[in-house]
Amino acid sequence: MRATVPTTSEAACLPCSHGHGRGSAAAAAYAVAACLVAVTFLALAALDPRTQASWFLSSSSSSSSLSSFTSLQPSGGGGGAEHLLVTSSSYSDGGDGGRRNSTGKEVHEELQVQGGGDDLLLSFANSNSGHDVLQLSVTPPAAPEPKPAPAPAPAPAPESSDEAIQATPQLPRRRDVKLERLELGLAKARSAIMEGIRNKDNRPPLADKDYVPMGPIYRNAYAFHKSYLEMEKLFKVYVYEEGEPPVFHDGPCRSIYSTEGRFIYSMEMESRLRTRDPDLAHAFFLPFSVVKMVKMIYEPNSHDMGPLKRTVSDYIGVLSTKYPYWNRSLGADHFMLSCHDWGPYVSSANGHLFGNSIRVLCNANTSEGFNPSKDVSLPEINLRSDVVDRQVGGPSASRRPILAFFAGGNHGPVRPALLAHWKGKGDPDVQVSEYLPRGVSYTDMMRRSRFCLCPGGYEVASPRLAEAIYLECVPVVIDDGEYALPFADVLNWDAFAVRLPTADIPRLREVLSAVSPRQYIRMQRRVRAVRRHFMVHGGAPRRYDAFHMILHSVWLRRLNVRIAAQG
Ligand SMILES: *[C@@H]1O[C@H](CO)[C@@H](O)[C@H](O)[C@H]1NC(C)=O
Ligand SMILES: *[C@@H]1O[C@H](CO)[C@@H](O)[C@H](O)[C@H]1NC(C)=O
Ligand SMILES: *[C@@H]1O[C@H](CO)[C@@H](O)[C@H](O)[C@H]1NC(C)=O
Repeated sequence: MRATVPTTSEAACLPCSHGHGRGSAAAAAYAVAACLVAVTFLALAALDPRTQASWFLSSSSSSSSLSSFTSLQPSGGGGGAEHLLVTSSSYSDGGDGGRRNSTGKEVHEELQVQGGGDDLLLSFANSNSGHDVLQLSVTPPAAPEPKPAPAPAPAPAPESSDEAIQATPQLPRRRDVKLERLELGLAKARSAIMEGIRNKDNRPPLADKDYVPMGPIYRNAYAFHKSYLEMEKLFKVYVYEEGEPPVFHDGPCRSIYSTEGRFIYSMEMESRLRTRDPDLAHAFFLPFSVVKMVKMIYEPNSHDMGPLKRTVSDYIGVLSTKYPYWNRSLGADHFMLSCHDWGPYVSSANGHLFGNSIRVLCNANTSEGFNPSKDVSLPEINLRSDVVDRQVGGPSASRRPILAFFAGGNHGPVRPALLAHWKGKGDPDVQVSEYLPRGVSYTDMMRRSRFCLCPGGYEVASPRLAEAIYLECVPVVIDDGEYALPFADVLNWDAFAVRLPTADIPRLREVLSAVSPRQYIRMQRRVRAVRRHFMVHGGAPRRYDAFHMILHSVWLRRLNVRIAAQG
């Protein structure tokens, strides 16, 4: 675990001035709401297993000889195609939330027991069987029936034992109507996306003024495009205004943690995908920065994360007292975002935040509770200036004499083996070292290498992944499958990257040499194509860039949750 405050400069993007209220106030014990939340999971990749299969076929021609990408999926699971992937039949499991644990098995955590009645969810469920088309009831929702006493929800995550279980006060009906309308919109979008998935081969590409996703870098290019356009049409995020900068509404915009500050900043500036009326929001953003908390609140070397966790639980206490939104979904339509190594630990401050909310994290380690069906893997990008545009591009394969390159500190679970095996061996093909000699540029080394090794450091994520993509060097992820790769819900990583289990470190040269020049050229071309999704632009974010891809990942997770009105 990295216990230090980042040393590189981390200029604030912009001091925020619109925070109201106090970020920390008395912790309010939050209670299990009388909400009805059903959680089902969808992922673009495999709503239709046939789609999935055909993608594997089409990409295998180019990468079959690589030590395979066994795991775009949580660790512990088997290999192959299933992963996040849930068929549309998971919508048929009605009122109970079909949630997947890290083995990809379906577990049924009943967030709430559905009290019968012909609500949308049930008509949803009943109309659906297997892979059949989801038929939505488009009739206005029936008048709410008297609700049975709410059943206690199981506490899905640590440190929620102190919660009180009590009935929630009735909300105004008007708010319920709005919520039902929002859910209906989401359900229609979801069914349009699933329709697109099923018929992708019979459809002309969708029109787009900027970019049409195509080709093997996507698990399903058509469905991604459809989903992206639906997001642009519909999705609205509410950013809570409570909390003062720098801990809230601000974050680092340079340094390896920059994606945290950039996202918070861009979200604050966003207009299209944002609403100022929480009653019109599909998702709620908790705009705190763990990096800033570590800087402002953490006592250096104390190893005490208590104050950070209290800040987060107090914040949620305030929001859940002041507004009805947290209680009605138990956090399931809320999201937090952090690139700090401690993001996951800080999120355990509140059991529902950990277990229900969408946690957007760089430290996306599935062995530490990261759940790819619910959480979002955030790319780590080491921004040294305001834009990456100047840091991109690189030569073609023929002008890359080095087979594989790595330089970096000897820490974390993977690097010791890599350095022990390859450092100082004088192999001109595999250049692995801790520090580069004076005068040798790291960026130049990446540009002169065909493959760039990207082992995690203290934690799974590495800024090398984005760097490799920027510099057109094919990335090699080295881990044992526990790293949930960024945007793996839509990107087909094995088309443009190599994944190597740690046990294969000694075989590195062999595995990478086996990639033929033709295969390499193809992969490098795809690296160039996928770069758009990792770009951070100066000024406003652009369509399909990192900011929008993160939001798209949140959108997909939100589509998997249905929040029922409280009636
Ligand atoms: C949400 O639940 C908590 C804990 O029971 C309660 O204190 C709070 O008042 C509730 N919020 C609203 C808006 O009802
Ligand atoms: C996941 O769920 C399956 C089936 O319910 C269970 O056998 C397995 O132990 C669970 N794994 C984890 C890590 O919770
Ligand atoms: C992921 O988490 C597990 C459990 O804490 C840990 O053993 C492993 O080293 C982590 N992986 C990486 C690459 O950091």
